[in-house]
Amino acid sequence: MSDYDLKALGNAKISHLRPAKTDRFWFGAPYYPEHWDEKTREKDPERMAAAGFNIVRMAEFAWDMIEPREGEFEVSFFDQMIERLGKKGIMTMLCTPTAAPPRWLTVGFPKVVRVNDNGVPMCHGSRQHCCHNNEMFRKFSWIITQKMAEHYKDNPYVAGWQTDNEINCHFSECHCESCQKEFQKFLRWKYEGDISLLNKAWGTAFWALTYVAFDDIETPKRSKPTYVNPACELDYFRFVAFSVARFQHEQVEILRNAQPKWFITHNGIMRLVDYRGLFTKDLDFLGYDRYPMFDNDHQNRDAGGAYQLDHVRSLSGNFMIPEHQAGPGGQMPYFHDNPEPGEIRNMTYSSVARGCDSILYFRWRTCRFGAEEYWCGILDHDNIPRRRYREFVQIGNEMKKVGKEVLGTSVFIDCAVASGDFDSGYAHATYPLGLPDPGWMGGVAHKMLYNSGYAVGCVHPEDDLSGLKLYIIPNWPLFNPEWVPSLEKFVKGGGTLVISARTASKDMDNNVVPETLPGCLRRLAGVSVEEYGKLNRPEQRPFALKFKDKKLKSEIWYEILNLEDASVMAKWSGRHLDGKPAISFRKLGKGNVIYAGTYLTENILKVLIPELAKIAGLKPVWPSAPGGVETVLRFNGKKKIWFFMNHNDGKVTVKKTPAGENLITGAKNSGKAITLERYGVAVIREG
Ligand code: GAL
Repeated sequence: MSDYDLKALGNAKISHLRPAKTDRFWFGAPYYPEHWDEKTREKDPERMAAAGFNIVRMAEFAWDMIEPREGEFEVSFFDQMIERLGKKGIMTMLCTPTAAPPRWLTVGFPKVVRVNDNGVPMCHGSRQHCCHNNEMFRKFSWIITQKMAEHYKDNPYVAGWQTDNEINCHFSECHCESCQKEFQKFLRWKYEGDISLLNKAWGTAFWALTYVAFDDIETPKRSKPTYVNPACELDYFRFVAFSVARFQHEQVEILRNAQPKWFITHNGIMRLVDYRGLFTKDLDFLGYDRYPMFDNDHQNRDAGGAYQLDHVRSLSGNFMIPEHQAGPGGQMPYFHDNPEPGEIRNMTYSSVARGCDSILYFRWRTCRFGAEEYWCGILDHDNIPRRRYREFVQIGNEMKKVGKEVLGTSVFIDCAVASGDFDSGYAHATYPLGLPDPGWMGGVAHKMLYNSGYAVGCVHPEDDLSGLKLYIIPNWPLFNPEWVPSLEKFVKGGGTLVISARTASKDMDNNVVPETLPGCLRRLAGVSVEEYGKLNRPEQRPFALKFKDKKLKSEIWYEILNLEDASVMAKWSGRHLDGKPAISFRKLGKGNVIYAGTYLTENILKVLIPELAKIAGLKPVWPSAPGGVETVLRFNGKKKIWFFMNHNDGKVTVKKTPAGENLITGAKNSGKAITLERYGVAVIREG
């Protein structure tokens, strides 16, 4: 494989409907036996087994133990731990320990370290300090991966691997010497060695940027002294994503060659990794580290969390959670809310309902030292099992049944938002104009659909759109014209498509499109944009949308539309926009296309969503579920598993429920009312 033959990397087909490739629902915790003495560890296997564990994750930060000096390997400690747990029925997911390279490597080969935007090299002392493009670091990463893979390939207790740990969590944009060379190589590959193609794609005629040779190109550094070229910056971001996909691939190849039966995953979601791209195609399933308590707004946690989970599923299909919040997380500057009794269980069921096919809780025991000594795990510092442990015993034992049932099923949705795309998201990041992130409006629309009880999810425009009645594409400036035919098919087949302002204003090079807006979507939407503007002080120059008998404040952006093959759904009101088309409506085939020449903020969506639901024929997924009860259906053919999670601050009753088996209690469910306590949940297999 040539270094830059991107296509030779993973090739799995990704869809939001794809179940995770695992024949077991894994349940457990990341475990750091190296942080404790033998006496403290003694009861761990027994306590884990009592909590229904069938897996632990180990060794992601233990490179210095496994290779204490260059070329000297010492695995007996982990061998013992793996065997001891294995004998209790607990398998191990090992990690390539490359997120925490040892001191001998950083000090002995100083060029391995990452260098920031200001030219400052990182140093030893925390983690993720080495560059994925540095040959020495890559070489030592292969060696440690190879050694561990060889050693464990026949170990019956090793089930799979996590590559590295949260790649790009702390640091993503490196500017070291290796990155300069590799960036040039990447561009030479992308532009087929023809510098004139690069000059054209980047628009280097602007501000004397013209290159005569690839060797002259440097990684773009912000504010040196002012704004950089956005086309160059997006290519740099793509290069960073490529580098981490390649870095991971080098490990995946070694692991798969050693033992094809192992599952391989990685834990995200971090910056500058293309999780719908090569990176995830290389894995059996993606991992998503879920820490809902980072949001201090308790009232937003269920809807916000649902959006995150749905977004992850849109990237990878069903996924694993290798780290789920187990208690209050704390690092030097902050300390999260302590999850109340029942809260983690409630979050666990939301996760499983929305596509999580295995879950581990960070971490088994709270560490007494180091940078995360207040990151509270299942057990406290003093190793005494308390309330949190007892809750995990309950969850673990429930998951023995529920987990088995959900494997192989998909999450049912009939409306969706396009929540994110690498190119589109990072194109926006290169040139935000002070406007909200494309994912932001997706989140607002998702929340409104979620709160109305619809079966909402997230779907990427290149994914399978079948089954959707309503599909919302928020403000995605960069829009790949290759996505348009399937959108057209979706509409003609009966779907309602909503496209919001500024979508398709940028081309794949991240330059503004030459066509009249909305570029490649103009024909489909049947409108063109006559003029646009940003609303920086809307209180001084107020504009509103006139929709039916309502006036809705518009606060971010306006576009004046020309109706080419569409009718008007809402008009502008105010100043020089008065009476001009603001939202268009086009009937096409059996479906509809709606183009909104503004950002769909919460006050607008409050009025628009009921209307869209009517047009699209949406019905709440379980109409008798009261407000604040998240209801999700997982299905496969005729199999239907219903999840009800109560997020209200008191108990509620679901008046009618599906008849079938209550998978938590094992009892027959007659279909009558169920009362859910605060944080209460019910899971029912219909039929
Ligand atoms: C994750 C990381 C873990 C630990 C945890 C708590 O981001 O993967 O290693 O740091 O957060 O901070």
